Amino acid sequence: MSKKDSRMWGGRFSEPTDEFVQDFTASVQFDQRLARADVEGSRAHAAMLARVGILSADELASIQRGLDQILGEIDAGAFKWSVALEDVHMNIEARLTELIGDAGKKLHTGRSRNDQVATDIRLYLRERIGDCMQGIRTFQHGLLDLAEREADTILPGFTHLQVAQPVSFGHHMLAWFEMLERDHGRLADCVRRMNQSPLGAAALAGTSYPLDREYTAELLGFDAPCRNSIDAVSDRDFAIEFCAAASLCLVHLSRMAEELVLWSSAQFDFVRLPDRYCTGSSIMPQKKNPDVAELVRGKAGRTAGNLTNLLMLMKGQPLSYNKDNQEDKEPLFDTLDTLLGSLRAFADMVPSLEVNREQMYRAAQQGYATATDLADYLAKKGLPFRDAHEVVGSAVAFAIEHNRDLGECTLAELQQFHSTIDKDVFDVLTLEGSLNARDLTGGTAPAQVLRQVKAGRKLIED
Ligand code: ARG
Repeated sequence: MSKKDSRMWGGRFSEPTDEFVQDFTASVQFDQRLARADVEGSRAHAAMLARVGILSADELASIQRGLDQILGEIDAGAFKWSVALEDVHMNIEARLTELIGDAGKKLHTGRSRNDQVATDIRLYLRERIGDCMQGIRTFQHGLLDLAEREADTILPGFTHLQVAQPVSFGHHMLAWFEMLERDHGRLADCVRRMNQSPLGAAALAGTSYPLDREYTAELLGFDAPCRNSIDAVSDRDFAIEFCAAASLCLVHLSRMAEELVLWSSAQFDFVRLPDRYCTGSSIMPQKKNPDVAELVRGKAGRTAGNLTNLLMLMKGQPLSYNKDNQEDKEPLFDTLDTLLGSLRAFADMVPSLEVNREQMYRAAQQGYATATDLADYLAKKGLPFRDAHEVVGSAVAFAIEHNRDLGECTLAELQQFHSTIDKDVFDVLTLEGSLNARDLTGGTAPAQVLRQVKAGRKLIED
């Protein structure tokens, strides 16, 4: 990056900016990625200036041509970014003037970097949130396919990480699907609230030029202009809202990650992760580490940190724009990158899990997962549920003592605990019986899981 004293606001200053201060206050190192949005915003602003008669048709044409060339230079990596020009906005404007002369200097009429940057971030974020939402959809499709394939697969369901009741593995995948569905909704909601145009707010008070704010809003795909110019340049709540929604999504991903780490361990051995998503150890040849899952689990901390960062950045700022807000970009961009990367990794890794059905079945058999079914069986025969619970507790203690599962006890043994127990009890003591019995909306019966897969597909078809 070259440095020269090309300050666009140098008129009232009697000495050059301290070199350290110049570096310290510059943002071009990281706000370059707003370049495309900045050009888009400038195109709309210029088109509007021409429409209201502030720019001539020729001036507009040369501005559009200059901006085309600048985008070309940026895409080709040939654009020379200058720290002396502070930020992406002034870099682009300076280059435009270099290319087309005085018309370039007119572009900033009726505009301030304050409404410019607020517009750029919204445009950029809106597009990238679209990518995140797409990433969620891709992952959800993969989960639905996996759930369909494994609707009949039995997994010990846990509460307190103790075996609780058998569930369909597909059902568990659909729980993940639901978490993502809400994340998707939160992002959509965030875009809806964010999609207003700050352009025309200028520095903070609006402008004395007869700008057509509705027109620029329309050109940029915003629903309307921001209603209050002071608010338009000052608040970054939309970025905070995104970071909150993204943090929550990362928290969901971290929970999935944790299960994948547990399940893929030798002790559980429920699933095998694809080799391409794992790494080895430099010292222990037998190791296959679930690095990607662990990293995603860790990244949830990073996005929560970014959210806190932005909340603290905003806290206590007086209206309207303050330079503090330049600090919004790095945590925001980092959160976007983290969310997109994590979704991409999971969307590919999870649907290609190898599921160890036999092992999960064995594990489900070991934890007295059908004890509730036995209690329900007794209750259906007329025993009050609390008494049934007590009876089954004794039966479980007996089975533990004899190192057997409930279904492995004889009828006579079970009848010691209650006389109404009959041979049909063995239907409810099987894992399959337990699953199939939960055939209600949202339940774990494979037939329900398949119904939910169908409904899920319908829900997310766009
Ligand atoms: N680089 C600045 C930012 O990111 C642009 C707006 C600066 N405006 C100003 N008046 N200094 O917030």
